[in-house]
Amino acid sequence: MPVPPPDSDSDDDDAFTKLEHTNWQRGVDVYHAGFGPLTSQAVPTLLDKAGFLVSSSSFLDDPNQRKVIEEESLLDVACGPGQVITAAVSKAKKMSESKSCCCSYTVTGLDFSCNFIQLAKKNLKLDHPDTTSSSSFNIINLVEGDAQDMSPQFEDESFTAVTSNFGILHLSTPDLFLQESYRVLKPGGKLAFSAWLAPPDTEGFDLILSVVNDVGNPNVTMPDGPPFFRFSYPEEIKHSLKEAGFIDIDITIVNSMEWTNVHSSDQLYNILLEGTARTRELLRGQTKEETKAIKEELQRRYDDKCSITVTGGTARSQRRHLRMPAVISSGRKPL
Ligand SMILES: C[S@@+](CC[C@H](N)C(=O)[O-])C[C@H]1O[C@@H](n2cnc3c(N)ncnc32)[C@H](O)[C@@H]1O
Repeated sequence: MPVPPPDSDSDDDDAFTKLEHTNWQRGVDVYHAGFGPLTSQAVPTLLDKAGFLVSSSSFLDDPNQRKVIEEESLLDVACGPGQVITAAVSKAKKMSESKSCCCSYTVTGLDFSCNFIQLAKKNLKLDHPDTTSSSSFNIINLVEGDAQDMSPQFEDESFTAVTSNFGILHLSTPDLFLQESYRVLKPGGKLAFSAWLAPPDTEGFDLILSVVNDVGNPNVTMPDGPPFFRFSYPEEIKHSLKEAGFIDIDITIVNSMEWTNVHSSDQLYNILLEGTARTRELLRGQTKEETKAIKEELQRRYDDKCSITVTGGTARSQRRHLRMPAVISSGRKPL
């Protein structure tokens, strides 16, 4: 059964949430361009692990089989630019077009940043211009709200699947989000959320954090928040999901994820400076001298890590992409 919220210092929580909110509101476009191509790589696994349109996937292989599935309803929490929403609509359309199923679904995105909600609406329109929010079968909603208290938006047992793609690491009390997900899920429904593997596996974070640690100031003052990599560790994930009432817990690592749109240390630095919340504070809290030292050392280590020599004919120097693997955790609400 769900547990009561853990004790927390609400002043600290408020200050942390305020910092996150302010910085996400500012960072929408840089985040979308800088992180979007990376975080999107986790989405197919996330949707599968949440069970969204999975029950009928096998019918895709046999066009003679047609299945009418019961309505599926997906809630994507901390939806940001809307990658999960657009991918979910694409998946449903693909299945309908292949005549493998008659998909009746609702897709809902929630984020506490109105700028992200606006961007998600724009992206949805670009990717699916034919999708209207009032179509009787396929309903898509994008709403503003807090992941840790969704009671103003959603009643108990409203969704068959809940996802959150790299949202949980930005919450002051992630256990509240787990409890809220449990509450809004229908019995038998699934929650799936992604988080980064901890450094050194995530090379982009490893580079910046080790450089700040070695040549800058790692102790910049900012409101306390939970450990950024809390949901990178299987024991912690299992414990947290169990405490919230979930069963059938699964943890899957998506090892193939790479930061394909980052080609230089300057680009990496600017994405982290303008398109993040806590790392933005860390980088902005450095003195001029520390910033200079960080940029120089970041360039040296980035070049060291990513340069590869291609042999065959004349040897050429090339860059490889930073590896950024994710952990996808999921659990089911008992029937
Ligand atoms: C790292 S981004 C993830 C965005 C997107 N899901 C993706 O896959 O790229 C984190 C998102 O969480 C949202 N967020 C942070 N704290 C939140 C909260 N308490 N309630 C709702 N959204 C929140 C931010 O506005 C931002 O859109």
